[in-house]
Amino acid sequence: MVQGKHILLIVGGGIAAFKALDLIRRLRERGARVTPVMTRAAHEFVTPLSVSALAGVKVFTDLFDLTAEAEMGHIELSRAADLVVVAPATADLMAKMAGGHADDLASTVLMATDKRVLIAPSMNVRMWDHAATQRNLATLRGDGILVCGPNEGDMACGEYGPGRMAEPLEIVAAIDSALGDGPLKGRHVLVTSGPTHEPIDPVRYIANRSSGAQGTALARALLNLGARVTFVTGPAQVPPPPGADVVAVETARQMREAVIAALPADAAVFAAAVADWHVLGASQQKIKKTKGGLPELTFGENPDILAEVAQMAKGRPGLVVGFAAETEDVIAHATAKRARKQCDWIVANDVSPASGIMGGTENAVTLISEAGAETWPRMAKEAVAERIAQRLAAALTEAGGASGGDI
Ligand code: C5P
Repeated sequence: MVQGKHILLIVGGGIAAFKALDLIRRLRERGARVTPVMTRAAHEFVTPLSVSALAGVKVFTDLFDLTAEAEMGHIELSRAADLVVVAPATADLMAKMAGGHADDLASTVLMATDKRVLIAPSMNVRMWDHAATQRNLATLRGDGILVCGPNEGDMACGEYGPGRMAEPLEIVAAIDSALGDGPLKGRHVLVTSGPTHEPIDPVRYIANRSSGAQGTALARALLNLGARVTFVTGPAQVPPPPGADVVAVETARQMREAVIAALPADAAVFAAAVADWHVLGASQQKIKKTKGGLPELTFGENPDILAEVAQMAKGRPGLVVGFAAETEDVIAHATAKRARKQCDWIVANDVSPASGIMGGTENAVTLISEAGAETWPRMAKEAVAERIAQRLAAALTEAGGASGGDI
């Protein structure tokens, strides 16, 4: 529900900007607070006066408005809202977002925000179909940007096809679901992600090749279904998903502490590539190279976080999901791992170098549960994440129960 929520609405410069006025009205009718930001081009289609009159607040327009910068910088503006909505999102604005430009207030806000972003594209059908726009759209989706529309129909330019901005009430519905009205609404899901770094001394560490891409995609998919997500991440290459409660850790032992502190949860998904060992007595000073001498490293075992949580006698999440990265006999090893760790599901994947999965964009997984092994076709990590999230939502719904603890 948008009731009581704060929407930062970026109005781009397209003919559909007039529909943004209706969108503001619809949102305010439903009890939302709307802070509008207009691009320069948007001024050509609607006036700041009408936008501001409907929103009931001042319109932000220029990055270098020093008073506004002093009162509320673009950083604060980008973070004070519950959701950022771009309507209409023109081809140019989408290109700027995909390229990471920040040369005016709208694009800077979009770069600086830590909130989820929903765009409602609107443009001529040929511009929509253009390879560059489709490439930018794919990039934006990959970045976790939510997209509403465009619709197909007659266009102001006289052509027919996809490119019409979604209707204000369709955008309101997309905002509703972006604000957490999905099947996981009210559920708390814990996700671990990324590698861990195990220090040898203050400058050296032992790590692995996990990028954090799969864990991030999973957290995003769970957020899209309305879950509250606690995202415990090691030092990953990909940024954490906007909207999650992020707990950044470095070592396996810190990850364990963060996981235990984040419980209770309805479900826990352990996508982190946790180091099995840490260096015992890691040096407080940088170990010096001494002539002819090699450092002796001794190892201690790290806590198995997944096994510990899966075997909790009290407060165990209703669904505990582990990953198994294997390089051979994937299904057999993963099935044994499920039994050993006592988790409900294992998502098994082949990370042999030939598969290109570790650090890559695709994943080929087998879901192992009590019911047996189910192999999915190779697909983008985002698609794997969506499928796992949907399964997880279905399992929690079937199990019923209250949020926040045992189900
Ligand atoms: O035992 P292995 O590392 O292959 O198990 C992989 C699964 O266990 C993953 O889900 C991983 O996140 C989790 N794990 C963990 N703590 C460890 C090792 C692995 O949570 N110390």
